[in-house]
Order: sequence, then structure tokens, then C-alpha cells
Amino acid sequence: MLRTHTCGELCIDDVGKEVALCGWVQRNRDLGGMTFLDARDRYGITQLVFNMETNAELCKKARGLGREFVIKAKGKVTERSNKNPNLATGDIELIAEELIVLNPSKVPPFTIEDETDGGDDLRMQYRYLDLRRNPVKEKLKLRHRLALEIRNYLSSEDFIEIETPFLIKSTPEGARDFVVPSRIHHGEFYALPQSPQTFKQLLMISGFDKYFQIVRCFRDEDLRADRQPEFTQLDCEMSFVEQNDILTVFEGLMQHLFKKIKDVDLPEFRQMSYDDAIKYYGSDKPDLRFDMKFVELNELAQGKGFNVFDNSELVVGICAEGCAEYSRKQLDELTDWVRRPQIGAKGLVYVKYNSDGSFKSSVDKFFSQDELKKWAKEFNASPGDLILILVGEKKRARKALGELRLEMGNRLELRDVNQFVPLWVTDFPLLEWNEETQRFHAMHHPFTSPQKKDVPMLEKEPGKIRANAYDMVINGVELGGGSIRIHNKELQQKMFKVLGFTEEEAQNQFGFLMTAFEYGAPPHGGIAFGLDRMAALLSGSEVIRDFIAFPKNNAGRDVMIDAPSAISPEQLVELNLSIKGETK
Ligand code: AMO
Repeated sequence: MLRTHTCGELCIDDVGKEVALCGWVQRNRDLGGMTFLDARDRYGITQLVFNMETNAELCKKARGLGREFVIKAKGKVTERSNKNPNLATGDIELIAEELIVLNPSKVPPFTIEDETDGGDDLRMQYRYLDLRRNPVKEKLKLRHRLALEIRNYLSSEDFIEIETPFLIKSTPEGARDFVVPSRIHHGEFYALPQSPQTFKQLLMISGFDKYFQIVRCFRDEDLRADRQPEFTQLDCEMSFVEQNDILTVFEGLMQHLFKKIKDVDLPEFRQMSYDDAIKYYGSDKPDLRFDMKFVELNELAQGKGFNVFDNSELVVGICAEGCAEYSRKQLDELTDWVRRPQIGAKGLVYVKYNSDGSFKSSVDKFFSQDELKKWAKEFNASPGDLILILVGEKKRARKALGELRLEMGNRLELRDVNQFVPLWVTDFPLLEWNEETQRFHAMHHPFTSPQKKDVPMLEKEPGKIRANAYDMVINGVELGGGSIRIHNKELQQKMFKVLGFTEEEAQNQFGFLMTAFEYGAPPHGGIAFGLDRMAALLSGSEVIRDFIAFPKNNAGRDVMIDAPSAISPEQLVELNLSIKGETK
């Protein structure tokens, strides 16, 4: 090794030792007689001291070094007269006796400091420099610890990690596939896996009974803060289990991870049906760090001559504690907020429950104080509270109110990043109707089993069937989702039929799985978690990009290596591909 120690480990006990350190120049301070260099590596920072009086030549050499030069310094560890309590190595410094420049550096395009002057684009372009910064580095370190703890825990529970292929045939998970043309088989394509779903099911048929894999998945879908085109799943599958077994095992995993990584004891997992989540929180991933449950007012508020209410499918509201003091301006601003196209409400009705017990509302013309009092009772409201009401078609009104609930949660600081409230959302619909394609789509994926009692409805009333599917949600983040699978060929065939596959299409795409079902497929089920999301959540962040070493930007580009990019005409010919209609 070129070094004897790292830049983060020397302390008072090392005083007197002759050591060699390697690192990058973080800062270079010339104080006339003395020059101080801060040398940084992955582990920390150590101050190197060069003295003009004792070694003028070396001191001059040190002065000439710019930020981010890679250096090696040898010298003696000494106690500092001026200690720095903010630095792990702040009790000591290295009196340099030798200095070697291992490699010079251009001036970096942004400062490598915790608070940098580099904008997003620049930092993405020079991601390798961004990764030198502490906050980014810490995120990757956390991710590493997370993966390690996952492997430890699941291995101790008898799971084994098995790799599955990347060059596969499309597995539908609801997004578009990234495809890879085959050179040898002209006109044919591999698809990159959206998840290892079918493979993990095949592994159950192989008898591996407890499988997991930390695995890259690829989905060609619109990007958001919590979505990347390539992301990592913790993918798991178990045989001879029912839904509750899966929930128990993965609650255990999550409790372990939160304890090990954050020293947090996760509270008990609540369970909520999909229908209740939508009805009471307007979302299939409710943030339960705060309550603010929806209250439906159709019975109390309709039929009183207020057209807006009378003509709406749903009148629904939330109670924001202690907000009755909101000014006209604040209420107008909130109304504008819900009217934004992303939220899509037409307007906002408010009822202030004043501290003197009276009510002031935007619908005073239509409703008496007594009537408003009844509403307040429904909301369990107290004097000082503010009731906010939206109306409209059920689905839209709930969705918009769900957004407003989160916004009020933010404004009232009810979404503490250090509090974690886990939840299982269960009983998802098996299918959802797609207006565009005019057919049913699998809400989770086509391998999810219907609940036993609902199987007879599969052909006649498919829309009403519930699935043996579940999502793990923490603080409003969908961390993972899974299901108990179909393991019977006939049922799987029926499912494909309901999904609009002809027998031939089903056979072509999934014949291998249905054939496998005929060779002793055990009952099985599983779940997959978003590892990037898990890392982000553990750090109180919503942006998964920061937890990926080399992420794509919002347009799906890697601006550092400039991908995607054109390929050479020779490659196109080899792959028998044409561009813009040209045939090669
Ligand atoms: P699902 O599609 O719900 O299930 O994905 C599981 C989890 O993966 C994460 N995730 C993503 N993370 C980042 N970027 C993305 N584009 C992205 N898409 C999904 C989410 C999600 O909860 N095969 C099934 C699992 C199963 O049934 O066992 C599956 O992939 O955290």
C-alpha cells in the first residue's frame, strides 16, 4: 500500500508515529511561514503542516498544489496546539517530511464541499466528482450497509440469493420494455427484465423454497423523483406460504433493517384494505404519520339547495387542526393550489370552526350554523379547526383531496422525517379497466392469484375480484409490493383470457411457465422492494437518484457518458436494423 493509514483515522494515540497518507487536496492555506494542506479521502480529512523555516523547499512545493491534486505525504503525527473539535482527526496534524504529487488535477467545475456551488446538471455531468462529496458518499455507504444487512438477515432465515438472466423475453409489469436486438437472430429481440417475476416463480418450481436477489430491473416509463429507468429491487419468493406468512417474514426484515441502520424500533405494521385506503386517504399508499382522515358529507350536505354539492358524486373533506385562523389570503392561495392542473379540483369549500364556537364558511348562504355544527361533529372537529371540502366525481375528488391532505400535512409539519409508520395495504382489485385499450389490465401482474372466494366471478364479473396482493407502505412511500401467485395452469389460462390474450398469444409468451406449472408447482408467493427507495426513505429523502451511484437524469439520459447515443452504421447493419425507414 502507498499509505500506512487513511485520512480519517489518526488520533491523539498516534502522536509520534511516522505515517504515510494518500488523498486529495481539499484546501490549501498559505500563512506565510506555514502552509496547511487538508488531505481528504473516503474516510475523512487530515491536516498536513509544512514549515517554511524547517523545510522551505517542501513548503514551497505544498503551496503550489491546487484543489483535488492527488498526493502522498509522509511525516510525523503531532498533537495540534489549536484543536478542531469538528473533525474526527482534529486533535492531531501531520508534520510533513515528504510530499509526492501522484497526479495533478484541473480545477474542478464545482467545489467538493458538503454545500457545493454546482447545479444539478453540472454535478450529474461530473458525477465522479460529486461522489467525492460527503453527503453523496454517505448515501452510497448507507446503501451498502442496507444491502449487507438484507443479505445477512435473509441468509439467516434460510433464503438463498440466486441470479436470474437479464437478456430475457418480456415480463409484463405495466411499463414498456427496454429491448436488445439480437445479432445472431435477425429481427428478434431480447427484453431487459422489468423484474425477475417469472424466473423466481420457476425457482419455486425447482424447489428453492426461499429465494431472494438484489437485482437490477429495467422499465421504460416516465421518470419521477421516485422512479429511475434502471433501478434495484430486493426480489423475494417463498413456497408453501399464505399471505400472512409473507407479511410476517418481511415485517421482520424491515424491523431488522430499521434497527440496524437507523436504530429505530418500527411500530407494529397496520393493515388496511385498498378500498379503505382510497376511501379515507385518497391514495393506495397513505402516509399515516398523521391522521386527517377523509369524511364524506353526501348525506349531511346534499339536498340543501347548493347545486355544486347536489350535482357532485362525492362531497368529501378533511379537518386541519388549529387552522381556523387562516386569513382570506391563505385560503385563496390554498384554493389556487387545489385548482392547479396537477391537482385538478374546481374549487375549495372551507368551514372555519372559530374559537368562540361559531362557524364561518364559504357556503354560509346555503347552510345554517346548526348544519355546520353537524358537519363539525362528523369531522370530530374542535373550535380552532378548519374544514376543507372538495367535490366531484368520486375517483378525482378523492385523489385531489389526498394531495391536499399531504400538502396540509407538510404545512402543519406533521410529516416528520424521523418518524416511520409502516402499513400493509391489502385486498387490491385483481384487475383494472383501461379506458384507452378498452380491456382489463392486471393491477399487479398477471401471475397474481385471485382471492379464493372470488374465483367464480373471474369470467362474469372480473372487475369485482380482489387479489391476494399487498403493498408495503411506509410514510406514504410504496416500498414494495407482491402477491400470492397462481400455481395452476387452468387458472393461469383463465387469467390470460380475461386479460384479452388469445390462447395462442398466452402460449407464445408464457407457455414455458404454464408448462412448468404442470410439473409440480408448489403454492408460492413473494414480494419485491425498491432498494433505491428504501435507502432514500431511511435517509428521509424522496429522491432516489441521490442513492444511485450513476443515475439517469429526468430525461432518462446519462449525461456523463452521453447515453443513449447513436450507434455506428456498421453496428446497425450487423443487427439488421434500420433508422427512420432506411433499410440496411
Ligand atoms: P412492483 O412493480 O410493485 O412489483 O415493483 C416492486 C417495487 O419496486 C420499486 N419500483 C421502482 N423503484 C424505482 N424506480 C422504478 N421505476 C420502480 N418501479 C418499481 C417500488 C415497487 O414497490 N414482480 C413484482 C413483485 C412481486 O410480485 O413479487 C414487482 O416488480 O418500490
